[in-house]
Amino acid sequence: MTISGIKGMNDILPNEVQTWQFLESTARRIFETYGFTEIRVPVVEKTELFCRSIGETTDIVEKEMYTFTDKSGNSLSLRPEGTAPVMRSFIEHKLYTLDPVNKLYYLGPMFRYERPQKGRYRQFHQIGAEVIGVDDPRIDAQVLIMLVHFFAAAGIDTVELQINSLGCKECRPGYRQMLVTFLESRLNALCDDCRRRYLANPLRVLDCKVPGCREATVAAPSVLDHLCAGCNDHFVAVRSSLDATKTPYAINPRMVRGLDYYTKTTFEMVTENLGAQNAVAAGGRYDGLIKSLGGPSLSGIGFAAGLERLALLKTSSPVPPPRPDLFIAALGDAAGKEAFLLMSSLLQRNFRVEIDFLGKSLKSQLRRADKLGARFVLIIGEDELARNSAPLRDMRTATQDEVGLTDLAQLLMERLQQNSAPI
Ligand code: HAM
Repeated sequence: MTISGIKGMNDILPNEVQTWQFLESTARRIFETYGFTEIRVPVVEKTELFCRSIGETTDIVEKEMYTFTDKSGNSLSLRPEGTAPVMRSFIEHKLYTLDPVNKLYYLGPMFRYERPQKGRYRQFHQIGAEVIGVDDPRIDAQVLIMLVHFFAAAGIDTVELQINSLGCKECRPGYRQMLVTFLESRLNALCDDCRRRYLANPLRVLDCKVPGCREATVAAPSVLDHLCAGCNDHFVAVRSSLDATKTPYAINPRMVRGLDYYTKTTFEMVTENLGAQNAVAAGGRYDGLIKSLGGPSLSGIGFAAGLERLALLKTSSPVPPPRPDLFIAALGDAAGKEAFLLMSSLLQRNFRVEIDFLGKSLKSQLRRADKLGARFVLIIGEDELARNSAPLRDMRTATQDEVGLTDLAQLLMERLQQNSAPI
């Protein structure tokens, strides 16, 4: 009996990996241009880290974590997101002593026990970026501009940037109470889930996809009308930097986030092309998080983009995989050995070379060379070995001439350079 993979955890197959590598290298290139450096943190952390940062009453912590007890009795969890582990590492290694501003990015698998569907998986991958130590609203704008830049560089234009502000610990409690009072007046119209959670997490009700809940909350008070002066000024300044740089965005006062650490600016890159999973990237400010995890009182802002969702939106295929420069077709044992030696020495000089390992006929070797898209084919047999030269076929022009085997590398380099122009 064969063993299958785990539901919601996908293989990324060779014909898909090109897109992933393109997205990853584009992210690295853009993020590094904006001064971010990579940080790598473990996939497993103490469970408490996620409870304290993401929040006890969130879906992620309540229902979605892969939590287990290790052999020493510690409760550990597979990371459901990257911000908390990065902040843990930042505090633990006192990165703030090296630089007052830290810009970090990360890339890797995250784990959430969600119901798998298109764009939603149990192991998924995020590319995330975090700036620590800057209160200035211009950094919020810069993070958003970088996100928009990344999407443009990745060739994904079916997205819209939506922004909101969730206020701070001064103004949010008042808004929250107002929302609870509003929801109490509409309780009968809410779904079971929202009736259960409206007291513990009233903002989540605004995010409920059930049509009845949407209708019942149309007239709900808007968070943006209840910001304190500081949060309001901050939001106005973020918008004015976005306007000044002609960065397109929409304001979505109903946007709430599924993690508790957010303050002030929050945002999502949304698409209509992925059904219910409409957020391709999301993030926001988390000014109290580092302190609440035992670190210094430093603010932070960042985002994470889901690689699976990016790959689903990336319909045009990126650069095709490189083709062999040369296929050496060999006839007979002695030629097979020579083909192997020639290939080994050419590979050392960074030519892409293939030979046949399956003992195929000359005809089928030539078919394979064609299938692989080899640029040149060298055909060697006993006679060719004896005279130390062999026919080299140019697959693009379908012409061939006799070339010496001793200076093959030099000749191949010249021919590849001569022929590098597309036809
Ligand atoms: P999040 O909104 O939970 O935020 O996730 C960010 C992105 O990860 C989503 O927009 C989506 O593209 C992807 N994602 C989330 N869950 C899944 C899933 N089950 N399957 C596939 N993709 C998924 C965070 O994780 C925050 N740490 C972002 C952040 C960074 N905030 C500040 N800094």
